[in-house]
Amino acid sequence: MSESNWGPSASRMPQENRQDSASFHEPVLRTELLDFLQPGPKQLYLDATVGGGGHARQILEACDDCLLLAVDRDPEALSVAETALSDFKDRVRFLHGRFEIASEDIEVHDRGLDGAFLDLGVSSYQLDSDSRGFTFRRGVALDMRMDTSQGHDARRFLADASETQLTSVFRDFGEEPKARRLAREIVKRRMTSPLETSDDLVAALRVALGRSLSPQDKARIFQAVRIAVNEEVESLQMALPAIREVLNDGAVLVVIAYHSIEDRIVKNAFRDWSKSCICPPKIPLCTCRGRALGKTLTKRPVRPHPGEVETNGRARSARMRAWRRAA
Ligand SMILES: C[S@@+](CC[C@H](N)C(=O)[O-])C[C@H]1O[C@@H](n2cnc3c(N)ncnc32)[C@H](O)[C@@H]1O
Repeated sequence: MSESNWGPSASRMPQENRQDSASFHEPVLRTELLDFLQPGPKQLYLDATVGGGGHARQILEACDDCLLLAVDRDPEALSVAETALSDFKDRVRFLHGRFEIASEDIEVHDRGLDGAFLDLGVSSYQLDSDSRGFTFRRGVALDMRMDTSQGHDARRFLADASETQLTSVFRDFGEEPKARRLAREIVKRRMTSPLETSDDLVAALRVALGRSLSPQDKARIFQAVRIAVNEEVESLQMALPAIREVLNDGAVLVVIAYHSIEDRIVKNAFRDWSKSCICPPKIPLCTCRGRALGKTLTKRPVRPHPGEVETNGRARSARMRAWRRAA
């Protein structure tokens, strides 16, 4: 891949619904990201969740002539990021797809990444926009796909998933104590009419919980469905080792998670990669790789300081972890 390929590939991006980066999403832990990545000249970085381009801008501004590969599975986000980053157009290349698509890129294969970043979950725009169907506000058609160009939406998920699947989604991703009862209620309701809107899902939840609902009750269940619809856990599990493999020696991988399940996956991956021996304890002689692949840089996750949470409520649950590939 030659440098002439750097810049926007606008033809693949929808032009409607454009808006500016700041109203799209307020990036969290920006200074902390730069502290870990330390962007340098002529280096190649990956932002695997470019969203509205806020973090990407931080990286590009921090170095004179570094390059950034900007990935997102949401075509609408890529369109916004392209506009937001137009003043860096010779240094950014956009790719539509899941995080791991970056590890299949020819240039990334040839020269390796000098740093990579994942800011997991959804953007404020996705959450706040009725047309995307993530919200529990009234009268919204359920969709919840980050990539609107493919896959099954939330309506289809609620229509097709078995009672057992629904129970584990609500229990594991929503930490809902009455997960089984909610799953049963959904299965009962969909026999007479499909769950199509936010109101349908909220009504099922109200019956299952047997009381009036707080915004947190609804948020947990809508989040659980979103994680399932987008296969977020599976995608992260696949992407972490794929991205690790294309990091150059000494390069840093930084991940921000907003959910304990995702944070645990990141923590465990970084811990395993930092061990020199991964043989089962019963094996007397080491038969594995016998060396650590790198080092975890964050004993505990980095959390936003109270000032940041005050101005950006969505920062509250953010946890940043970083890992450096061995030199
Ligand atoms: C929290 S937002 C990122 C915001 C971004 N850092 C910014 O400054 O605007 C998460 C973004 O990641 C994207 N995303 C989530 N999971 C993804 C995946 N598996 N592959 C690619 N993009 C993903 C979402 O579509 C969303 O745009």
